[in-house]
Amino acid sequence: MVNNKAFITLVSLGATFVVNVLAQQSSQGNDIWDKASPSKTSTELRWRDCYTQLQCARLQVPLNYSDPEGDTASIAVIRLPSPLAGTDDYKGPILFNPGGPGGSGVQMIADGGAAFSELLGANFDIVSFDPRGVGLSIPRVSFFDTEAQRQFFGSFDVVNATSDGLARIWARAQITGALAARHNQHNILEHFNTENTARDMLKIVEAHGQRNIQYWGFSYGTVLGATFASLFPGRIDRLVLDGVVDAEDYYATLWSKNLLDADKTLQIFFDDCFEAGPDACPFYEPSPQAISRKLDDLTRAIFLRPVPVVTDISYGLVDYARLRMSIFQSLWSPYAFFPQLAQGLADLINGDGTTLYQIMEQPLFDCSCGTPTPPTIIADGGIAISCTDGEEVRDTVDELESYLRGLLRDSQWGEGMAKARKETFQSHPILWIGNTADPATPIAGARKMAQGFPGSVVLAQDSPGHCSIAAPSVCTAKFIRAYFMDGKLPNEGVVCPVDVPIFLEQSLGARGNTMRRAVGVNLGGKDGDIVEALAHLRERFRVPLPF
Ligand SMILES: *[C@@H]1O[C@H](CO)[C@@H](O)[C@H](O)[C@H]1NC(C)=O
Ligand SMILES: *[C@@H]1O[C@H](CO)[C@@H](O)[C@H](O)[C@H]1NC(C)=O
Repeated sequence: MVNNKAFITLVSLGATFVVNVLAQQSSQGNDIWDKASPSKTSTELRWRDCYTQLQCARLQVPLNYSDPEGDTASIAVIRLPSPLAGTDDYKGPILFNPGGPGGSGVQMIADGGAAFSELLGANFDIVSFDPRGVGLSIPRVSFFDTEAQRQFFGSFDVVNATSDGLARIWARAQITGALAARHNQHNILEHFNTENTARDMLKIVEAHGQRNIQYWGFSYGTVLGATFASLFPGRIDRLVLDGVVDAEDYYATLWSKNLLDADKTLQIFFDDCFEAGPDACPFYEPSPQAISRKLDDLTRAIFLRPVPVVTDISYGLVDYARLRMSIFQSLWSPYAFFPQLAQGLADLINGDGTTLYQIMEQPLFDCSCGTPTPPTIIADGGIAISCTDGEEVRDTVDELESYLRGLLRDSQWGEGMAKARKETFQSHPILWIGNTADPATPIAGARKMAQGFPGSVVLAQDSPGHCSIAAPSVCTAKFIRAYFMDGKLPNEGVVCPVDVPIFLEQSLGARGNTMRRAVGVNLGGKDGDIVEALAHLRERFRVPLPF
């Protein structure tokens, strides 16, 4: 029973929740950004030490590129500087975008910068930024006056969770729209769009003293990268677009295509659980079909009887919505979550919801009433970016689907694509990457997008999960490294395998790095470092859902 409608809703509205999950992870280092202090913002990058061994700066950019003398935005930029800067081996900055829209690049580098440097080489500065409107950049989009108001409004519904589920989602979206309008003084939201963010990226590159961009974008970050390529085709040194969003397909057939992929990834859970056997997969049954049926039965049971959970840091129910959200979260990062999902489902059958609950557990909200909202990551910026078009909310629940489509639409992007298809030349070909079972961005998206950019190549990774870094593949990592180092592209048609099966990696490797080391030794010492870096990355950084 994979309920398509529910998955649609999870895909579209789940993003809100997911971004919030990531927001909790680290707020240390905030003081370095020092709120709105304009003296810290400059059209040059003035680096200050921040977090651990990182550097932060605020870059001043025009809010409206057609009005360069007008108001400005202050982009929060972060980097892990190359220790080789100033030597012949220095190869400049690589910019990252973590996806979203609305994902925080600052958070991404604070959590995963060292792992990316390990993967790509110390020759590069590892650089990212909070896109305009998002996170620590100023102005930041917020539809709520305080964090307490945001928390009490809550973040998600699931279509099937109640008989009025769809209507509730529609009604809540009306409120979000009204709040957005109320917070849209001087039409400021219009400036928060993908095209302007692409222009900001060029400013960051130039402020680094470089002419051309080197970039690795995930998920929505592929939209951003492709928009950059369409605006500035002659300013590309390296562009890796990983977990590719196909805009045209997205607008036309989102509702069916996304689901096929989600189903395919869930099928891998059933298949791999079966193959792993009862020791490694606690939700095991004697066939994948039986595992699937067991999940259906469990879902129906939970729908009728939610299970209460109290942990050391929070409490709540494992109900239908929570179960569906947790399964979906697992699908886009199977290596991180499938073993926990299998354990959680097995426990849930026995009436213990703790492990399943912990898949999406967040610390309880603690109201720091009266103090200004701390500059953590919130979803509002992403929603604003997605609707620069300002689509009106439709009138009826029946039109929810088209409303959602409107809400999530990014008109700038559509335009960018049209332009991109007319281009016949980029200064360097693009490397597109797609997983064979990505629940959010099917590899078909990568293949289709690549056709619009002559000379570019699609690298396939034979794995489930969202974006290549969701699964361990030394093969993929090496191609990406070679591309950044020397500009070498894989041959068209290359499919990279993963290094270990999901349940095996977890059962042997998660508790201590014995298994990973063993794999590393087999592959040679240097590859061992790649395996470690990939594992570290999976633990610390997750690509938020697209849109
Ligand atoms: C940006 O500036 C141009 C030129 O002043 C103006 O025509 C346009 O309306 C501005 N855009 C927005 C969204 O304010
Ligand atoms: C969810 O809704 C669909 C269609 O309305 C229905 O077929 C399915 O059984 C529902 N799922 C649950 C758990 O009620």
